Amino acid sequence: MIGALDTNPLVNGKGAQILRDHGVEVVTGILEQEARELNEVYFYYIRTGLPFITIKYAQSLDGRIATSRGDSRWISSEKGRRFAHRLRAQHDAIMVGIGTVLADDPLLTVRLVKGRNPLRICLDSHLRIPLNSQVLSDDGKTLIAIIDAHDIKKVEAIQRQGKEVLMVQEGANGRVELRSLMKVLAERGISSILVEGGTEVITALLKEGLANRMVVITAPLILGKGVEGIGDLGIIDVGRAIRPSSRKVKRIGEDIVFDLRF
Ligand SMILES: NC(=O)c1ccc[n+]([C@@H]2O[C@H](COP(=O)([O-])OP(=O)(O)OC[C@H]3O[C@@H](n4cnc5c(N)ncnc54)[C@H](OP(=O)(O)O)[C@@H]3O)[C@@H](O)[C@H]2O)c1
Repeated sequence: MIGALDTNPLVNGKGAQILRDHGVEVVTGILEQEARELNEVYFYYIRTGLPFITIKYAQSLDGRIATSRGDSRWISSEKGRRFAHRLRAQHDAIMVGIGTVLADDPLLTVRLVKGRNPLRICLDSHLRIPLNSQVLSDDGKTLIAIIDAHDIKKVEAIQRQGKEVLMVQEGANGRVELRSLMKVLAERGISSILVEGGTEVITALLKEGLANRMVVITAPLILGKGVEGIGDLGIIDVGRAIRPSSRKVKRIGEDIVFDLRF
């Protein structure tokens, strides 16, 4: 019994046919919807040629992901952060904008749970990343996506550190063009990306319609003026709000986690 046939054109239905040719009775489509949901990343990746993108961030009750001085450590609880590390381990890559690297200098590895470290990707159009950033300083894999390589010495220094600098297409906003970067990453076999902020990158992905899933960890604290999780999406009527196609809500310790699909 087969839940859902593999939609990869290289294999689609061939296995089932071989079984049938050898006299084995094959039934397909058993709990097909559930099987597709279980394999949502793979099916999306094969169908679109793009990685499945999950946006994840931790916010205060009043929707802030950092204070007005840019401090975000830590908004979620220890249990919430362990959950976030489990999410990391389930993805091929983790992506952040250069704003997050400059503000937090994150390591972006899986430390609080067992699991492999995904590739780290930083969107950094003009190669502003400091050479002593944590994502450039350890043995892990890091890719810096840029649109302008005029500082060739810095490019070479990063390459000597064993990290990759990838020149990508420039978008209309004079920044890394997200859709073409996603295509390049998919061609390299990256089927899933966890986007960990910050505001500008999250907003750009939502505007582009590139996000498939959003995991929002809401902690019971209030920060007042600060950095918002999502910026201007040009929505002026509530009727035009982005509404997820499915949603799950759970508690992790004191935090509430919204797990949304678009
Ligand atoms: N609570 C949380 O979960 C959490 C998680 C992460 C970050 N944060 C907080 O978020 C804040 C940083 O957010 P941020 O908005 O300043 O920075 P960001 O979103 O991390 O990075 C924005 C920068 O990325 C670069 N970029 C390149 N291509 C882009 C594209 N296509 N679209 C958008 N950006 C692109 C741009 O710089 P160039 O033009 O130079 O390329 C842009 O200024 C920090 O305070 C940090 O603490 C909180």
